[in-house]
Amino acid sequence: MTSAHDENPGGPAGPMRSNAELIGRDDINDVAAVLAVVGRQESDGRHLVPDPCPAEFTWDYEKGARPRLDALYEKAKQAQWNARTDLPWELEVDQERLVAQNRAAGQGTSGWSGDVVAGTSLERWGEKDWLRFGVAYQNWLLSQFLHGEQGALLCTAKIVETVPWIDAKFYAATQVMDEARHVEVFSRYLDEKLSGHFPINAHLGLLLDDIIADSRWDITYLGMQIMVEGLALAAFGFLRWMTSEPLLKQLLRYVMADEARHVAFGVVSLRDYYAELSGAELRERQGFALEAAVRMKDRMQAQEVWDRLGVPVSDVKTVMARTPERAAFQVLLFSKIVPNLKKLGLLDASGGWLRRRLDEIGVIGFEELADAEQDQDAEAEGSPAARRVS
Ligand SMILES: [Fe+2]
Ligand SMILES: [Fe+2]
Repeated sequence: MTSAHDENPGGPAGPMRSNAELIGRDDINDVAAVLAVVGRQESDGRHLVPDPCPAEFTWDYEKGARPRLDALYEKAKQAQWNARTDLPWELEVDQERLVAQNRAAGQGTSGWSGDVVAGTSLERWGEKDWLRFGVAYQNWLLSQFLHGEQGALLCTAKIVETVPWIDAKFYAATQVMDEARHVEVFSRYLDEKLSGHFPINAHLGLLLDDIIADSRWDITYLGMQIMVEGLALAAFGFLRWMTSEPLLKQLLRYVMADEARHVAFGVVSLRDYYAELSGAELRERQGFALEAAVRMKDRMQAQEVWDRLGVPVSDVKTVMARTPERAAFQVLLFSKIVPNLKKLGLLDASGGWLRRRLDEIGVIGFEELADAEQDQDAEAEGSPAARRVS
């Protein structure tokens, strides 16, 4: 099935792929279908993704031929920190107490009551059940950060191989180290301070697979540096603002300083490249950006948590429909992505196709906010790197 949105305003390249081709379902906003797909781990504990993107050697070793990438590389060398010694791991974390505090303050995903849960199985939930939910939700959220960081580790190793320019290979090598450190900190935080792991969310998993399985080198950047890391930057920022737990606050501060540089790397690398692409090639990139946006929005339903707690999909769907404030939060989470898509020319190419589709799924806003290049120095404030330089 195609919709009016699938018309191709640009002419000769043929129609944009349909919703079913892009994301496996026709109705982009079908909450029940989104919730029904739950992430589970393979029985042998491995997940293999074939990678058809050729590794590319370059014989042009001139460092600084691309000055903005070179500047990022120099900055990244200064900004390295040590996950083991730069964070106060000795601090104790009382997860249940923190969840109870959040719920008392009515903060975040701390639970619903009254009209929101009326007529669903959640109506019978008491404080203990919501506490169990809050703890599970935190374990789930940090688990998704951990899996996403591993995705970034694999993707940036891939960028080292596939990007054609030496300055970008140099920079990407520093990001591989950054992402290893991020995997290290989230893994340790989950193991030592929280109370359980979740497998990767099904929708996040599909997106990471699609990024890695694409044969075009720039899609790794678009999927990982612009979309996944853009969302992560906003999500980390929100959690850092919300949590009163000092170790997590500091950990997120440091990770965010790195992530802001990573998103800038994506924008700096792709901007000139996308300026040279044909209308048809840009349309393909718009299709990929939309797929990524839908997958990331789908991931926010936390279906693995509801599934583990035995809450039926129909009840979750009812509660979601009754919590309109979630829509505003969703737009906020995309606030680091939309300005960068605009800067890359993807929002407005093909007669504004991507702008209309993002509006349809309810994630567009904040397009006038600072883009990643302007953003990275502000995010670096207070990080170990900033202290070392000053
Ligand atoms: Fe990261
Ligand atoms: Fe990153």
